[in-house]
Amino acid sequence: MFPAGTRRVAVVAGLRTPFLRSGTLFESMTAVDLGAVAVKELVTRADLDEKEIDGLLYGTVIPSVSRPNIAREVLFDANLPMSIPASSVIMACATSNRAITDAAEQIALGLADVIVAGGSECLSDVPILFSRPFARRLVKLSKAKTAAQKAKVFAGFRPGELAPNPPAIAEYTTGLSMGESAEKMAKENRIFRAAQDEYALGSHRKAAAGWDKGVLPPEVVPVPVAPKFEEMATTDNIIRRDTSLEQLAKLPPVFDRKFGTVTAGNSSPLTDGASAVLLMSEERAKAQGRKILAFIRSWAYAALDPSDQLLQGPAYAAPVALDRAGLKLSDVGRVEMHEAFAAQVLSNLQAFASETFARDRLGRSAPLGEVDPKILNLYGGSIAIGHPFAATGARIVTTLANELSRSGVQFGLLTVCAAGALGHAMVLEHAD
Ligand SMILES: CC(C)(COP(=O)(O)OP(=O)(O)OC[C@H]1O[C@@H](n2cnc3c(N)ncnc32)[C@H](O)[C@@H]1OP(=O)(O)O)[C@@H](O)C(=O)NCCC(=O)NCCS
Repeated sequence: MFPAGTRRVAVVAGLRTPFLRSGTLFESMTAVDLGAVAVKELVTRADLDEKEIDGLLYGTVIPSVSRPNIAREVLFDANLPMSIPASSVIMACATSNRAITDAAEQIALGLADVIVAGGSECLSDVPILFSRPFARRLVKLSKAKTAAQKAKVFAGFRPGELAPNPPAIAEYTTGLSMGESAEKMAKENRIFRAAQDEYALGSHRKAAAGWDKGVLPPEVVPVPVAPKFEEMATTDNIIRRDTSLEQLAKLPPVFDRKFGTVTAGNSSPLTDGASAVLLMSEERAKAQGRKILAFIRSWAYAALDPSDQLLQGPAYAAPVALDRAGLKLSDVGRVEMHEAFAAQVLSNLQAFASETFARDRLGRSAPLGEVDPKILNLYGGSIAIGHPFAATGARIVTTLANELSRSGVQFGLLTVCAAGALGHAMVLEHAD
């Protein structure tokens, strides 16, 4: 996909914090805290001279009001040289994917050789806003000079104005939450409850195996837990080794209590965590004798109408990424798909294989094809591991790059769906 004269981009390393259910061990931490740990440790483990870093591209989906440019704040807290430009990126759940592809563009064009990219989300620390009428009063209060002016600010005050305004995990345009949108997809695509639960069970089993086989631990940096820093968070705490189809089947639907199929068990949970990857030009990585985990071969973004099937973006982005890579789905030996909901994964897989979808939605004569379950999300996905929105993309890139390096498989495809009806796909290539 890269035009002649541009350079190959190497994934050299990737790392993440443990992914923890929101409101557990990271409840007193912030996205900046978690991001700083991931970025600092990535640079340390890579034995990278910090002065070599040309940029930090980093994101969070729900930014802090006091530290909105998370990239720069992470850089400060990671004690990296202040001379490194750092900018923040937001693209809903594809945030760290966008950070990675922005970095890849800079490296491919020769504008940079070494970039750290990633994302962090601490859903234990979301900004909760005052209502607009009360916020207006506070602004007026800050400008009031006399006691009379101050008193006037609160004329007509109603206690209801103090009701907090937390961020909604919902589409502004449709008013539907992500879960309601997943329900819509399940219904329109006829993805039944049993299939969703079976998929979710597989996610937990594979993630547990990923830890037990020693595949995931090297991708995870232990985090000293604020505020006392006496305890260490060392492992993911969402994976359920003891779950079963029977337990999953008992859970009530959450987003359509009467007729729904999407439950806490087959959804990704609200999660805290951070991730980061180290990208280098091929030349720089090779000049330093570094092991390259994978090359970025291609990528694509897609967008559709949020009132359609909100989380179907991967089915639109993957064919374009594969075309740009000059590959077919059958050339790909590993697939990593972000699991917002089992219903969303199964809907996208269905679309991959559907002639009707290919013809009517993509204008293509043939579908992409079936994904062999044996090559899909080998070490679990966001349902079991968790989904700190901005951190998921870099987690997936890390896991896939490591898997290609370890297995010798030539090509891997990854996909991410995102709010706003956005989708991302990337093809990674074995480096040897
Ligand atoms: C689905 C959701 C609302 C559930 O939230 P929650 O009710 O706080 O979830 P919990 O973890 O408390 O689970 C609810 C119950 O199901 C049980 N449960 C969850 N997963 C289970 C599993 N795999 N096996 C067995 N039981 C399970 C829990 O133990 C809990 O039981 P309890 O009520 O007896 O304690 C929340 O996770 C959510 O909003 N997820 C979607 C996030 C999202 O939209 N992301 C964006 C994607 S694009």
